[in-house]
Amino acid sequence: MSNDDLVSQARAARALAYAPYSNYRVGAAVRARDGRIFIGANIENASYGLSVCAERNAIAAAVLAGARELQAVAVVTESSPPAAPCGMCRQTIAEFSRDAILLLANEAGEVVQTTLTALLPLAFRGDQLP
Ligand code: THU
Repeated sequence: MSNDDLVSQARAARALAYAPYSNYRVGAAVRARDGRIFIGANIENASYGLSVCAERNAIAAAVLAGARELQAVAVVTESSPPAAPCGMCRQTIAEFSRDAILLLANEAGEVVQTTLTALLPLAFRGDQLP
């Protein structure tokens, strides 16, 4: 699937967001190394801290399907410029990729392409554990 199509999948996922508290809907789509695509959206909770970001929900779907190496992550919000993943999501992407392509997009059609290492240089990784 092309990067453009991955962004479209993230946009479609955004429509599934459950965000009644922030009203800030986020959609994500990840492409695994084997080409499979998994989607996620943010799912909030009345106990606010339990809310889970779109990216981490998409990654959970991928990992549960056995896809542990991500090649690209698309995130769609309403923000301009397009919003970048939060720190917790960056670290989660790092767990399942070496240097994923990040496609940050919005509903206006803006797309910013970057990489995980640009957003999370010197990431802490499991192979650094004793
Ligand atoms: N959110 C995401 O889904 N991804 C991010 O990377 C940043 C924030 C969600 C969490 C919460 O539901 C809403 O956006 C506002 O913070």
